[in-house]
Amino acid sequence: MKKNNILIAPSILSADFSRLGEEVCLIEKAGADLIHVDVMDGHFVPNITIGPCVISKLKNRTKLPLDVHLMIKDPLFFLNDFIKAGSSIITVHSEVCTLSVLKKIKKILTKNKVKMGISINPGTPLKKISGALKLADMVLIMSVHPGFAGQSFMDCVIPKISKLRQVYKGDIEVDGGITNKTAPLVLKQGANILVAGSFIFSAKNKKKAIESLKNA
Ligand code: DX5
Ligand code: ZN
Repeated sequence: MKKNNILIAPSILSADFSRLGEEVCLIEKAGADLIHVDVMDGHFVPNITIGPCVISKLKNRTKLPLDVHLMIKDPLFFLNDFIKAGSSIITVHSEVCTLSVLKKIKKILTKNKVKMGISINPGTPLKKISGALKLADMVLIMSVHPGFAGQSFMDCVIPKISKLRQVYKGDIEVDGGITNKTAPLVLKQGANILVAGSFIFSAKNKKKAIESLKNA
């Protein structure tokens, strides 16, 4: 854990994909704690990004944990591929997993020493995951509709973060529209991991951008 126990996970969705390895090295040097990898399948969200073969190559370029956010319709089907690729945390969406599927995923991840994250979209109520909280090492609260970088932070998720913090002791990650203006709003409610794509990658000085989130 770094200072304040706040971890910054730059989302490589906003990186230059033609120079992905270099971009990952740059954000590692700039002080990132995790590398957030957005995996989209064109079904769960209306966009397609990258898969396990790219992740396994990135694994050779960084010592940082790979925080893999699966925005895909059938995470159980692809789980082993993402484990083998070297993911440190795999987050699946509650909207596509029953409790029994989440239990199966947890069992496989534990066996492979990979942490489990469970994510909820802005429109999904917290009660949807209340029965699954004990499985999760991390809950990822989406603060935009998943699918694209560069969207505006949705204030309506703020109460969800504080409600969750009252009952959940694990990591709470917030993803979408995080800047030095919105970071304090979510940290105040008890979030401790911030995902930021466009804010970090559009900054000339990435080190300063990451520090400004940490000190938000
Ligand atoms: C959205 C992704 C996010 C996104 C964040 O579906 O899960 O990780 O890349 O990008 P910004 O920080 O630009 O909202
Ligand atoms: Zn994400």
